Amino acid sequence: MSELKENFTFNEGNLIEAKKILSKYPEDRKQSAVMPLLDLAQRQNENWLTREIVEYVANYLEMPFIRAWEVVTFYSMYYTKYNGKYLVQVCGTTPCWLRGSDQIVKACKEMIAPTQNTLSKDGIFSWMQVECLGACVNAPLIQINDDYYEDLTYDSTKNVLQSLIDGTPVEVGSQSGRKSSKAVS
Ligand code: FES
Repeated sequence: MSELKENFTFNEGNLIEAKKILSKYPEDRKQSAVMPLLDLAQRQNENWLTREIVEYVANYLEMPFIRAWEVVTFYSMYYTKYNGKYLVQVCGTTPCWLRGSDQIVKACKEMIAPTQNTLSKDGIFSWMQVECLGACVNAPLIQINDDYYEDLTYDSTKNVLQSLIDGTPVEVGSQSGRKSSKAVS
């Protein structure tokens, strides 16, 4: 499980990346880079942000901490607690719901934890229900970290989760075999 990191600083690779990001903005507008830099910091810290890390990013951009913290607490892609190696976001909006998202939630409850935002016993996963993930054409679907798994059923959801537990390869995208979002034949 992730532990609180003290004295956070960007690692060597991310320092280079941060400079690259900053170079896209005028010198006197560096605060505009707050979102990509928070994302960079979050990725370095196992997908979550502590207050200390947000302070580091705010100092890096020479902006008040509270303004960076407002961004973190407003946007849903920043996390202020550890969510496990894999954060499973289940879309529950109408198109996904009509196509069986309740069954996906059921699979998550059984394999991860009975309630949302709760670490699984092995500390690998947590899950949460979210609004439209913007891929309704392949409903129902889940997002795990940066990847989408689509055209899911109760069984294929369990297969995806089990593959991640076992460390065996699993294709991202449609789990029903159709190519991208072509019509089901
Ligand atoms: S409703 Fe689920 S992706 Fe749009």
